[in-house]
Amino acid sequence: MKTDSGLPAAAGGLGDFVAARESPLTARSEPRALHSTFIIRLNSIIDRLEPAKTFPQAQPLEVDLGSGDGTFIAQYAQRHPDRNFLAVERLLGRLRKIDRKGLRAGLANLRLVRIEASYLLEYLLPPASVHALHVYFPDPWPKRKHRKNRLVNPRFTELAAQALTPGGTVYLRTDDPDYFAQMTAVFAANANFLLGETPPELSSVFTDFEKDFLEKGVRTLCAAYRRR
Ligand SMILES: C[S@@+](CC[C@H](N)C(=O)[O-])C[C@H]1O[C@@H](n2cnc3c(N)ncnc32)[C@H](O)[C@@H]1O
Repeated sequence: MKTDSGLPAAAGGLGDFVAARESPLTARSEPRALHSTFIIRLNSIIDRLEPAKTFPQAQPLEVDLGSGDGTFIAQYAQRHPDRNFLAVERLLGRLRKIDRKGLRAGLANLRLVRIEASYLLEYLLPPASVHALHVYFPDPWPKRKHRKNRLVNPRFTELAAQALTPGGTVYLRTDDPDYFAQMTAVFAANANFLLGETPPELSSVFTDFEKDFLEKGVRTLCAAYRRR
């Protein structure tokens, strides 16, 4: 079972805020080549993000929580220029890798933020602003005593319900059967959600961890829940 090293999610706190050399807030209508980074500079950790000021175009927003090295989000953003994508990652090195992928591909619809995922959902995303939440291979914390650190828990379903638009969907993937059972149980128990489906055009875009699992023959699981 592949686990991820780093601080426990619960102890990750807010993380550090990364100063962009050029803020996307000031680069709205400039040529893409002028971007030096897609990493969002948070001027405040108590004011909500304003998607309209964060992206050049007002488009449906999708958020990838724990993007890792960003292969999924970079490919998916490239396939959907009519949507905006926010990659959320607490490790700076990984965020920089995603940044390089986004810059190379000239993705006008991708922005990145270094922050703890639950904090972003609770305090920074405007309520009912997100059309899709992608939660792929979150750290499984397989030891029983560590399971309290898992991202997807009953509170997470409340935060997801707050952030999603009506009809918006949370998409889940994991290789860990026990975590999958927890994910599906907590979403099934939240009356704001209905069981949904993962469309093939989405499930065919693999994440970095997923590729590793597939190469090793490890079975992966997925589920989707739609906000009422
Ligand atoms: C197992 S990796 C999966 C990465 C990617 N989704 C994939 O499938 O390749 C989990 C990622 O989530 C990040 N992460 C874990 N807990 C987080 C949290 N609470 N907030 C933000 N990022 C988190 C880790 O740094 C790591 O990059």
